[in-house]
Amino acid sequence: MAFLCSQCGHRSVKWFGRCPGCGQWDSLSETGPERASDVVDSTWLGEELRSISEIDLEKVNRLPSGLSELDRLLGGGLIPGGVILFGGEPGIGKSTLLLQMAESIARGAGKILYVSGEESEGQVKLRAARIGANSGRLFVLSEQSLHRIMAAVEQVEPLVLIVDSIQTTADERVAGEAGSVKQLREVSAALIQLTKARGMTTFLVGHITKEGSFAGPKTVEHLVDVAIYLEGSRTEDVRILRSVKNRFGATNEVAVFQMTAKGLVEIEDPSRFFLGDTDRPRQPGSVYVPVLEGTRPILIELQALVSPTGGYGVPQRRCTGLDVNRVLLMLAVMEKHLDVHIGGADVYMSLAGGLDVRERGTDLGVIAAVLSSLRNRALSNRTAVVGEVGLSGEIRPVRRLKERMAEAVHLGIERLIVPKTSRMAKQEGLELVAVEYVHEAIEALNF
Ligand code: TYD
Ligand code: MG
Repeated sequence: MAFLCSQCGHRSVKWFGRCPGCGQWDSLSETGPERASDVVDSTWLGEELRSISEIDLEKVNRLPSGLSELDRLLGGGLIPGGVILFGGEPGIGKSTLLLQMAESIARGAGKILYVSGEESEGQVKLRAARIGANSGRLFVLSEQSLHRIMAAVEQVEPLVLIVDSIQTTADERVAGEAGSVKQLREVSAALIQLTKARGMTTFLVGHITKEGSFAGPKTVEHLVDVAIYLEGSRTEDVRILRSVKNRFGATNEVAVFQMTAKGLVEIEDPSRFFLGDTDRPRQPGSVYVPVLEGTRPILIELQALVSPTGGYGVPQRRCTGLDVNRVLLMLAVMEKHLDVHIGGADVYMSLAGGLDVRERGTDLGVIAAVLSSLRNRALSNRTAVVGEVGLSGEIRPVRRLKERMAEAVHLGIERLIVPKTSRMAKQEGLELVAVEYVHEAIEALNF
């Protein structure tokens, strides 16, 4: 008798609640006495063994999801046999988005099975009514048992299976409550096997909390082909879908949606959505920056408000949508290299539209916005800036400058302050001002 860790393969003669090999809880399970080396039969491969040159590339027919932004994120649609982990905080809109997709596929390509372990069929219907889902080929099942879900798949033979969520699905033969690490792994492995065998596409919904404290979806991330996460705040209606793993396409892609009374609406031109009317004269403290979300350029508006700290109060430093530590660093760079003193002032920074950008290409924008507010001088609304700022005030290059330039021009920007590089790209209709140090950038902004 032996116990084997399903996580790291550690073998032990005794059962432990926590694997001595990798420290994972509840991962040891009883195995037979044999080791793999005892059961190897060298004849079994026979003619099945092929060299890579003999393997035919089956033509993969991707299935459009009906949501072009989701298709783009996935690398061109759903792959038969692919399993997609769809994570996000509770209430962010996962069920809504998947039901919208389900309806659109059911209207076009074929049957969908939507399994909810959290809501009754009536509740799913209520949501469906809100988003106008009513297809006869969209089957809904309120079920938590893995085996009944698998039986339903055999019966419906869907093109796409949606399991909402893996935390509520359980295999009765496995110990542990639904949502435990062991159950998550068993349930996911069984559904993955079924998906590959049937050549359908499966979405596994996984809840994660803001702190990411619940390790649930993370434990299955390495089992699935694609992992995408829906992010956003419940107070703003913007939702960002982000791919963190994709065996069939690029990762770190994003798609932007807006939650409306009739479900999620794709935003194909996020810059325009976040910026609003670019023809309005700008207020002091506002700066346009072409940032990258994944590989996608988006022109954003950074806003700074600098005001004297009243009395003997401690100066405030507040940020939304930006990394506060990076902003503090930029304030220090301004003190040192621009001789600008902000010690007696409160600084508030935010990103218009509810985006959250963690990218160093915004550095120069932060400095420009703070100065603009401090001097109470507005920038031209045809000017934008981009560049990482180093500790000695040098401006560092940014990734994919060409794409950022194109996006800026698309939004009506005519002048862009950029980091100087040996080979400068060109863009019609855009005057580039290449700078090496932060003071040059400020001179070029001319305020
Ligand atoms: P939901 O899809 O249930 O989130 P999740 O499955 O990620 O937990 O979305 C819940 C929120 O979305 C809820 O607060 C109501 C809101 N909502 C809309 O604003 N419009 C809609 O059309 C729908 C269906 C939901
Ligand atoms: Mg839900």
